Amino acid sequence: MSLTLAQMAVEVLTTADARAKTALSRRHAATWRAARAGDAPTIEVGTATPPMRPARPDAPELLHPRDVPRRKPGTPEGRIALLHAVAHIELNAVDLHWDIIARFSGTRLPLGFCDDWVKAADEESKHFNLMADCLEAAGSHYGALPAHAGMWRAAEDTAEDMMARLAVVPMVLEARGLDVTPGMIEVFRRAKASDAVTALETIYAEEVAHVAYGSKWFHFLCGRHDLDPKEVFHALVRKHFHGNLRPPFNEEKRAEAGIPPDFYWPLTEDA
Ligand SMILES: [Fe+2]
Ligand SMILES: [Fe+2]
Repeated sequence: MSLTLAQMAVEVLTTADARAKTALSRRHAATWRAARAGDAPTIEVGTATPPMRPARPDAPELLHPRDVPRRKPGTPEGRIALLHAVAHIELNAVDLHWDIIARFSGTRLPLGFCDDWVKAADEESKHFNLMADCLEAAGSHYGALPAHAGMWRAAEDTAEDMMARLAVVPMVLEARGLDVTPGMIEVFRRAKASDAVTALETIYAEEVAHVAYGSKWFHFLCGRHDLDPKEVFHALVRKHFHGNLRPPFNEEKRAEAGIPPDFYWPLTEDA
């Protein structure tokens, strides 16, 4: 019997090895895409209960952000640490995108919701592989350094509320990625690390769509429940996100992703 999409999501979430997780993620995404294109039998979305925390490899060691050593970005070690941090974020993003599919599989939504998050999960899997490849080319690997322990917190904090999940994960955290990635690309450009530059440019280009999917489905649910999107966004971020948003913002890419300035400026420290 073939798996439902929700079961596929749980399979990815319960796979611990990072390369195995991304390979399975990409395979399930291709299966879903083929079914949606009419090239393979229909796949039911189904319902499934995802684990509270996804399976992860034994390494990297996960530390409180305070205890993760900082390294200067101008050094080779600093650049490896930066790639390692991005790899960790990408692996977490793979799990986040499959988690939203399984976690909220009981909520009736257009199939386009699944298409978007399956595509995002597939791209995150590619992003992790790109970062892991860059690390290996530099003589390191994912797991060689400690990583942030708090990454899954946003998922736990928003496990009961799909609108909060969309507000905090794609519309706050992934939007933050749009703000900081150009600076990171500059670090590798200055070091003439062309593989890392190309990989980060791919990530940067594809992340805009993930933020846009968040905005799209957040607005969809606001429309369904006759809610004011900006008011609800502010209330949910204040309730579920720990800390203020920090400028400078990438206003151009945020606009492209459907996040207007009056969504984020009132959530900064000075506001
Ligand atoms: Fe990504
Ligand atoms: Fe993403």
